[in-house]
Amino acid sequence: MFDEKRKVVLIGTGFVGMSMAYSIMNTGGIDELVLIDVNEEKAQGEAMDISDGLPYAKTHMKVIAGNYHECRDADIVVITAGAAQKPGQTRLELAGINAKIIKNITKQVMSSGFNGIIVVASNPVDLMSYVVKKVSGLPANRVIGSGTILDTARLRHKMCEYLNITSSNIHAYVLGEHGDSSFVSWDNAYVGCLKLYDYLDRKGIEHTELEHIHQEVRDAAYKIIERKKATYYGIGLSLNRLLQAILNDENAILTVSAHQDGQYTDEDIYIGVPAVVNRSGVKEIIKLDLNKNDQEKFNHSCKTLKQTIKETIDQIIEDKA
Ligand SMILES: NC(=O)c1ccc[n+]([C@@H]2O[C@H](COP(=O)([O-])OP(=O)(O)OC[C@H]3O[C@@H](n4cnc5c(N)ncnc54)[C@H](O)[C@@H]3O)[C@@H](O)[C@H]2O)c1
Repeated sequence: MFDEKRKVVLIGTGFVGMSMAYSIMNTGGIDELVLIDVNEEKAQGEAMDISDGLPYAKTHMKVIAGNYHECRDADIVVITAGAAQKPGQTRLELAGINAKIIKNITKQVMSSGFNGIIVVASNPVDLMSYVVKKVSGLPANRVIGSGTILDTARLRHKMCEYLNITSSNIHAYVLGEHGDSSFVSWDNAYVGCLKLYDYLDRKGIEHTELEHIHQEVRDAAYKIIERKKATYYGIGLSLNRLLQAILNDENAILTVSAHQDGQYTDEDIYIGVPAVVNRSGVKEIIKLDLNKNDQEKFNHSCKTLKQTIKETIDQIIEDKA
């Protein structure tokens, strides 16, 4: 892996997948991008369209439409295939339909002989990452969900606007399910190297706005989908950020959906936590000290996911069809 050619296979050439592809075109860092979609003509058209911009891209990249054999020597497979939320629909409501799709895709990826890292963005992303881990049999550190990476970007952007401090100096994380039970651990939020609460106190800024900011972050997808039917640019950039952290062996701390092995409380689920990401995938989960209230929110998020695993997901994974 990662010796010479950097090869990524994208499965699902819809809004999210192609926004990621376009973001990669703008940053470079990948030598070959293979596009796979159940709608083969769409994948072909996307490869043709995006390749047209190559002379103006930062670095050269080969972009082709292909099939599952292409996964054999890929460093990373990114899955963005499946149904997307409709207006008013929760992410969890997609669980049944997308679990079947993701199971089928994972089997085809693995039958190519693939032995790299799988990044999952299809929703509900924590549950789809669980499906990929179970069906692929890959080590847990090599299956990574995009988790709350986008929610954290939304939070940092809103905090940047609220405090008028650049977002790269806002260290605050959205934790838990990428969905309605996500939360922010404000105790663990920093502005530069100052605790957020201390910074607010020094500036005489009320703490009361913080919960409102989280509500805006949590409901952002609903508001965007209401207006333009889908969300894709934000997640496209976030996925590219995750790929670069892996391929460049960055040891970057990102909030991804990572396999839990008791680091917080639960085991054998995927959920959004800060984690160190490098070319081995998830190198380490960062355990934050959560206050009682935040720990309860985290437990609630885990319980919500576990309930859907028990009611819907495990059955689909076990189904021999
Ligand atoms: N993780 C996040 O933060 C985040 C953010 C936005 C959207 N999403 C999710 O990403 C997914 C894709 O969203 P979108 O807006 O790109 O949807 P889209 O409908 O534009 O694209 C989905 C693509 O998947 C393809 N597809 C469907 N079944 C397939 C299969 N079996 N094999 C291969 N390809 C298949 C479709 O042909 C289509 O091209 C959704 O589940 C959505 O909820 C995740």
